[in-house]
Amino acid sequence: MQSNTRWNNNLAFLLAATGSAVGLGNIWGFPYKAGENGGGLFVLLYIFFVILLGLPVFMAEVAIGKIGKKDPVSAMINTADKTNSTKNWRVVGYLGILSNLFIGGYYAVIAGLVINYGFISASGFIGKDPTVIYDTEISSFVEMTFWFLLFLALTGFVLARGIEKGIESSMRILMPTLFFLIILMVGYGAYRGDMSAALSYLFSWKAEQFSAATMQAAIGQAFFSLSIGMGTLMAFGYYMPKEQKVPGASSIVVTADTSVALLAGLAIFPLVFAFPFLDPNAGTELVFKTMSTAFAELGAIGQFVGPLFYLLLAVAALSSMISILEPSVLWVQERMPTTRTRATFIVIAICIILCLISVSGFNVLKDFKVGSLENPFEMMKYIADDFLLLLGGTGISAFVGWRLSKIIDMEKLGFKSKLLFSAWIFILRWVSPLFLMVIWVLGNLERIFFIKFF
Ligand code: PHE
Repeated sequence: MQSNTRWNNNLAFLLAATGSAVGLGNIWGFPYKAGENGGGLFVLLYIFFVILLGLPVFMAEVAIGKIGKKDPVSAMINTADKTNSTKNWRVVGYLGILSNLFIGGYYAVIAGLVINYGFISASGFIGKDPTVIYDTEISSFVEMTFWFLLFLALTGFVLARGIEKGIESSMRILMPTLFFLIILMVGYGAYRGDMSAALSYLFSWKAEQFSAATMQAAIGQAFFSLSIGMGTLMAFGYYMPKEQKVPGASSIVVTADTSVALLAGLAIFPLVFAFPFLDPNAGTELVFKTMSTAFAELGAIGQFVGPLFYLLLAVAALSSMISILEPSVLWVQERMPTTRTRATFIVIAICIILCLISVSGFNVLKDFKVGSLENPFEMMKYIADDFLLLLGGTGISAFVGWRLSKIIDMEKLGFKSKLLFSAWIFILRWVSPLFLMVIWVLGNLERIFFIKFF
């Protein structure tokens, strides 16, 4: 089981971490949240928080993995040992494993819908109404289950093949494909859509939109999109070659991730604004209902552009899904201990059960509410993104800031400037835990108990 627990080149970490970061969060989540929050200000806040909080906590999580080695739980125990801290810090590792499963438990469902839409758009929309198609598709429990099972089978196949043959090799194909497709889509948006409307929508400063909710959305989105807080980056930090520099590598991944989010906006909104009756504020349905309506309007060419767009989403989703389940597979494998294939089976099986609950939120249990959470799908998403991830992020930040920083060899980690290193530790100690906790408390009060302060 110890064989092949390393990548032997720097590119592998960059590809895998970028593959993890760039996902549905960028292409499905970022544009619809920008849309819901009115565009410009949200985008600027997002970039601000990526740099101020996202990058430092990203580096912290990679550092724990690199120093602590092994799966997220053992990595926390090892680093806690090294710093004479209590072993209770392992809770952060367990939170990570739990987040894996809950994120996986809704992520695969959206990815399944994406694959389904690839086929729908390829067959064309002549004589059909795209909005009706959406409602029909999500109303079928069996059909949605079929598509997410297909997606999970692909994910399981890659995971079972291991770190080098599975993750690294697949990323070498998926990442170039993803960048090629997104450039193609932006190009098409510029050619056929209204690019200037999209640019002004995404980048113009509208001060009147400033609110706690927009800030919350921007921070949550930044952390989710960078894959922070659930052990993925710890696992990838563990596989990282010894001499690879954490700050440099992290900066590259964070830049790539942010660029893809912005490019996704520039691929989607020009087409949305090309048709005056389409609404940029369609929420989670933006890439499904709204975009497929745009593809239908494009006529025959939509039958080519549509499938390419959904292929882009599927590629991004697959590379992220692999990374979402990797820490759990690693943990089961080392904990039992068992073979990688068997560990993959166990994790995928748990994920399937959670996905079935999510799917029911679209149809059979769509009226089952808890607090302001509309249905089981929303619940799963809430537990993962808003509850567990932010807690994990806070734990990671505080642990590295207050404990691990004492034994970190600044140069070995890859810092050249003492000033930058001190700024990093300062943010991890004071700034990010505080921001994250305030948002966590306010967000939970509002979502569960309807208590609103702003
Ligand atoms: N960052 C991924 C996305 O944007 C999702 C993800 C979250 C992946 C957490 C791994 C860990 O879609």
